[in-house]
Amino acid sequence: MPPTLELVPAVPPGVAALVVGITPRPTDGADDGAFGAVLDRGAVADLETFGVDPADLSAVLSREKVKGNVGDVASFPVGARLVFAAGLGERTPRDYRRAGAAIARRLKSVDTAAITVARRSPGAQVRALAEGLLLGGYSFKLTNSPKPDVLTSVALVVDRADARADALRDGVLTAIATVIARDLANTPSSTKTPAWLARQAVALARKSGLEVTVRDDRDLRANGFGGVVAVGMGSANPPRLIELTYTPDPAIAVEGHVVLIGKGITFDSGGLSLKPNAGMIAMKTDMAAGGAVIAAMSAMRDLGVRVRVTGLVPAAENMPSGSAQRPSDVITQYGGTTVEVLNTDAEGRLVLADALAYADLDLDPDVIVDLATLTGAISSGLGKRHAGLFTEDDHLAAALIAAGNESGEAVWRMPLVDDYSAVLESSVADLANVAVDGGRAFSGGAIVAALFLREFVGRRRWAHLDIAGVGRADADEHEVTKGPTGFGVRLLLHWLTTTDPLRGLR
Ligand code: BES
Ligand code: MN
Ligand code: ZN
Repeated sequence: MPPTLELVPAVPPGVAALVVGITPRPTDGADDGAFGAVLDRGAVADLETFGVDPADLSAVLSREKVKGNVGDVASFPVGARLVFAAGLGERTPRDYRRAGAAIARRLKSVDTAAITVARRSPGAQVRALAEGLLLGGYSFKLTNSPKPDVLTSVALVVDRADARADALRDGVLTAIATVIARDLANTPSSTKTPAWLARQAVALARKSGLEVTVRDDRDLRANGFGGVVAVGMGSANPPRLIELTYTPDPAIAVEGHVVLIGKGITFDSGGLSLKPNAGMIAMKTDMAAGGAVIAAMSAMRDLGVRVRVTGLVPAAENMPSGSAQRPSDVITQYGGTTVEVLNTDAEGRLVLADALAYADLDLDPDVIVDLATLTGAISSGLGKRHAGLFTEDDHLAAALIAAGNESGEAVWRMPLVDDYSAVLESSVADLANVAVDGGRAFSGGAIVAALFLREFVGRRRWAHLDIAGVGRADADEHEVTKGPTGFGVRLLLHWLTTTDPLRGLR
């Protein structure tokens, strides 16, 4: 259980730990040999009430060469209690998010703490601090001997709680949604069948005021979702299409309809185009984007999102078997486009194509945004810090880039190179699902995948986020923990909670 966060006017007596802020000492003045970091205003009084001489803390900081950079946390025992000095860098929201995560990693052995670093901070910093505290402290373990978390409550000391309550609530809601996405992605695929994922979506929808419909295998076949059916037919666990609808309260609603689509491959073995073992291990998280869409939608009512949102998660398990699709099969996607499947491991685009075409043909959205762990190629190009953003719409690009920077989930715009579309020509179908270039994969794989998706969006405004690189982390870093990151939840929620997310996009 994550700790509860609350805003209080002063350090509560009896807390087990006190966290004060420090920032780097300005370097222009002469070095007088004093401590290397500057204590927050107000921290002196807090330390004194806690029974600490601020000069002693300063001595520790200078001895340990703690500068006050983000991520720095020095500890100082006071009897049975602890004082921490946490670096806040330049005090940007990003710095607060990272400081929050660093603090959370150090607070694991105390039950209660008071944090004074946001005493006079704007709401954006309070929101970021809350996100960092809850996300940096995240862990997931399946065990029969669980160790309950020690830390139960954190008091955030602020001057005017009323002015910051909304920011704290938004941060907590955003972090909880991200935790839901991480938990879904962490769940082993033996549990996480498409039907299981759909049940989680139904349960979350009930709690969060969403409408939900789930199409099963028969329904998908009967209604022409040929991509989802083809990818799912090699598995003993049949596919589903999850559709969630959020309708804003009329009192806050603004015009507009967004469709969010998340790839929901509950395990990607590659199918008959089987992956090698090393590449397969991470593939229980191939539904990370679908989980992020489900999780983000579960927070929309409480966050007061003002536009209508539909979430689509085509969920299937990509397995090899006697009933699996074969390289060279031709399938018919939703809406009638035929596709020659030359590589069954390029399955994400097949399930997404159905969802994109369905959104275009049946849902009349103003904007479609899809997220997918789509290609290894995107991380060859961008690494693991930026998702690839593909869109032809400059307004939508600007909105998503801004939300990415604000939320800590950065995206980088990639080109949709028209000329590359030729590599997806098929002699027996409307399109091929991969470029086969003398047996070798055509380079620019992330772009080619995005071009394939573009065939299914009609004339809609559309953006595609390839999150294959950012969806999982190899190690703890800042607010991200090793394993699935929940990428997309924060970005989508920061975007959709702006006053009018569809400004310029209707
Ligand atoms: N799910 C994978 C992409 C992926 C790779 C996600 C690594 C996360 C980490 C996707 O379905 C896939 O297999 N893509 C292929 C496409 C290729 C066959 C054109 C790839 O990237 O190799
Ligand atoms: Mn694949
Ligand atoms: Zn995949």
